[in-house]
Amino acid sequence: MINFKSVNKVLIRVDFNVPIKQGKVIDLTRIESAIPTIKYFLDKKMNVFLMSHLGRPLKQESKYSLKQIIPSIEKLLTKKVKFVKDINGNVRNLLSKNKNQIFLLENLRFYSGEKENNVQFAELLSKYGDIYVNDAFGVSHRHHASVSAIGNFFLNKKFKGLLVKKELDELSQLNQNNKRPFTIIVGGSKIGSKIHLLKTFLNKADNILIGGGMAFPFIKFLGGSIGDSIYKESELGVVKSFLDRAQQSKTKIILPTDCIATNDLENSVDCKNIYINNIPDSYMGVDIGKDTIRLFSETIKASKLIMWNGPMGVSEIDLFSFGTRKIAESITQATAHNAYSIVGGGDTVSDIAKLEMKNNFSYISTGGGAMLDFFRDSNLPGILNMKSLKIDI
Ligand code: 3PG
Repeated sequence: MINFKSVNKVLIRVDFNVPIKQGKVIDLTRIESAIPTIKYFLDKKMNVFLMSHLGRPLKQESKYSLKQIIPSIEKLLTKKVKFVKDINGNVRNLLSKNKNQIFLLENLRFYSGEKENNVQFAELLSKYGDIYVNDAFGVSHRHHASVSAIGNFFLNKKFKGLLVKKELDELSQLNQNNKRPFTIIVGGSKIGSKIHLLKTFLNKADNILIGGGMAFPFIKFLGGSIGDSIYKESELGVVKSFLDRAQQSKTKIILPTDCIATNDLENSVDCKNIYINNIPDSYMGVDIGKDTIRLFSETIKASKLIMWNGPMGVSEIDLFSFGTRKIAESITQATAHNAYSIVGGGDTVSDIAKLEMKNNFSYISTGGGAMLDFFRDSNLPGILNMKSLKIDI
């Protein structure tokens, strides 16, 4: 057992992949959720090193720098946070004689080693902690250096943070929940990393509603014209195998029938509600249409267990957030009528925060892909062989 009194510095992986507009954090949920773990170690007079990714940068760009979020962390902790711009520096030079300082490392995805799960990169990171804590539930499904390879350097000194523990407890309970009908709503634009997870829910869920960007590879595969809507050729094979398996299952797959399409996303001048399988060239689908809202809402309101991840359109643009709002309202109504609802994912949670609906659901998860992946295999890479903090005190 670790005696925390002898520990000088703790390295905490957090998920501060938060929405930012003009340099300002527009939804604090993920930062607020990590505060109890950070405070836990500050109270123990340790130096705290926080590390996270932000977005999916292809190169180092200031819009992806974690420096932007420091004022938000400082406000929540009422404490100065020092920024570590270059991860390659010497850790000892950062630490003064005072314990109890807090540091934030620059975006881990500025370094190729992070996504490659590179062992040397993980070793470099490991210098920032005598012990390691994963409190980044949202990224616990990733085989990335700060989540997976890093574990090699902390053998019996790695812990699940308080947020991760809470998320796992909640999702484990949900996994055993037998309320029916069970409806899953998926959307968003991170299609590649989520589409393969849908098969996990065949025979488990009664209905899978597929909206947002996630719907377009399906419509394309089924022979529809999707204009300039998002999809990748490589996704069509996954769609085929999913639909083949779905046919043999008891789960009903419900796709949108109509959508809002525009030929100018930026200026949103020409927008129309049209059939989703008949989108003209140079137009793209940006929200679910009114018939789809009705179709999805009927199913949601008749459900007793509901899981939602991913907006129904380009919801960061107000004009295209109507479908997402309507789905949030339908889940709210179902929840008020005794359904259990869980909503997860950075964009979805940010949308419902903007709508001031965060208290309308049974549980809000900080994870999107991680939440879905948990149901495929609850042994997520970021929690393997991790001790629980409470047990070790
Ligand atoms: C999320 O937003 O779901 C997590 O932060 C993980 O981000 P990623 O999908 O880019 O790995």
